[in-house]
Amino acid sequence: MTKDKKESKVRQEWGSRLGVILAVAGSAVGLGNFLRFPVQAAQNGGGAFMIPYFIALLLVGIPLMWIEWTIGRYGGGFGHGTAPGIFHSMHQKNRFIKYFGVIGMFGPIAIFLYYCYIESWLLGYIFYSITPTYIQALKAGKIADFFGNYINVTSILSPAYIFFIITFVLNFVILYYGIRGGIERVSRIAMPVLLLLGIIMVLRVLTLGFTPDTQTPYKVVDGLGFLWNPDFNALKDMKVWLAAAGQVFFTLSVGMGVIITYASYLKKENDVVLSGLTSAATNEFVEVIIGGSIVIPAAFAFFGPEKMVEIAKGGAFSLGFITMPMILEKIPLTVVFSFLWFLLLFLAGITSSISMLQPAIAFFEDEFNTSRKKAVFIIGVVTFILMQPAIFFIGKGVVDELDFWGGTFALVLFATFEVIMFAWVFGIDKAWDEVHKGAQMEVPKIYKFILKYITPLFLIFILVGWFIQQGIPFIMMKGVDAANKPFIIGTRIGLLVLLLVLVIMVKMAWRKYKNKDIR
Ligand code: ALA
Repeated sequence: MTKDKKESKVRQEWGSRLGVILAVAGSAVGLGNFLRFPVQAAQNGGGAFMIPYFIALLLVGIPLMWIEWTIGRYGGGFGHGTAPGIFHSMHQKNRFIKYFGVIGMFGPIAIFLYYCYIESWLLGYIFYSITPTYIQALKAGKIADFFGNYINVTSILSPAYIFFIITFVLNFVILYYGIRGGIERVSRIAMPVLLLLGIIMVLRVLTLGFTPDTQTPYKVVDGLGFLWNPDFNALKDMKVWLAAAGQVFFTLSVGMGVIITYASYLKKENDVVLSGLTSAATNEFVEVIIGGSIVIPAAFAFFGPEKMVEIAKGGAFSLGFITMPMILEKIPLTVVFSFLWFLLLFLAGITSSISMLQPAIAFFEDEFNTSRKKAVFIIGVVTFILMQPAIFFIGKGVVDELDFWGGTFALVLFATFEVIMFAWVFGIDKAWDEVHKGAQMEVPKIYKFILKYITPLFLIFILVGWFIQQGIPFIMMKGVDAANKPFIIGTRIGLLVLLLVLVIMVKMAWRKYKNKDIR
């Protein structure tokens, strides 16, 4: 037993290898694959976006996937499932190192605060897609109004609020049943269904090419060309690099601090190399093959290239809840395909949102020895309260703010900490051995070099470039309506308080160990 091993109850474990791969893939495959990806690709020139995207995937995305599986499994061996404890177990000599891990707990909570609400719209739309009200709105060309009314929550009896409560409770019920009985069981069912639904939607879109009446001279295959004809000129454009790297993080769920928690429930001898690669590959298949073959080609064929880019500028919500319904209205079996579309997105969403809560739950279980039931209850109450601004002030910039700090900044920052911890503090030679424990394939040697030099440099470059180009104007609230500023400042203060509370809790947790002298 090493000196860091603390006395605590037996940690949970995954039931099977397929189960953990599906759970990690479930975390990765989310709204990002079907809505965020098409928006980013369309806004950044399609084929121009895909080159930096694949480069970022190979140099940062996949290496981080391996890092997170490895350090998660390593920390789990010491009874830690979240970044503060994992970092501590990687470098026990330094007592400050654990505080760098706080960002890896802050990120997923901040993302959950808006992600779960958007996920709840999908549940609402699954229901509405088969009702006459929705179909009439579609036929009358009023689907944008329908959406506007839906998200305008005025009381706790508004439909969107009721669907939010159901979705929220569902997330916590799954978590209540734990790693094996909740997360793994749901992922084993939801992921194959999701894949099947995705393939059905792709087949439907690809066969639209034969529908003569799209009112534009374009065909679906032109939309595929938009995405797949490379444009090397874009490599000079910093903005495209930032967008591509940001998308790789978000979609793979790396840099969030969620995969380390999932991996902490692995056994010491479990493979991480092939499993990590399989989960990343599954996500990429769903993103570029399935996600890339639905909205973009369909919108291209129905609206033409200029209008499609304009639609993408309207963001992921309008694409998913307005544009896609309008496209589906124009094809036979509208109700069936609308229902399947929202079901697909909902399954993608829920398997991701549960992964965002597990770190906070694991933190209570591991570091305070809290029972799962109690941890689920505490996190449930806290997140429920914190989510209210995102629901009631959605039009005031609160969601953008959460997405900026939680869904963009925290990811890149935490990923930078992780790779430095792994390759430099823990040490690349030790890290390389750790990666290969129980491995069912060898990581190509070149990755030893990539992990040590290229990934950190790439991340620092992204962090600095992105901060200067987008971070500073965002922080200065450039172009923000004066009326929205108080809401934005309020959100920032709230997030700062959350961060401070997490720091204090880490301090408390370690003090507790010290007093009991069990560390
Ligand atoms: N990785 C998740 C997604 O793509 C968060 O939505």
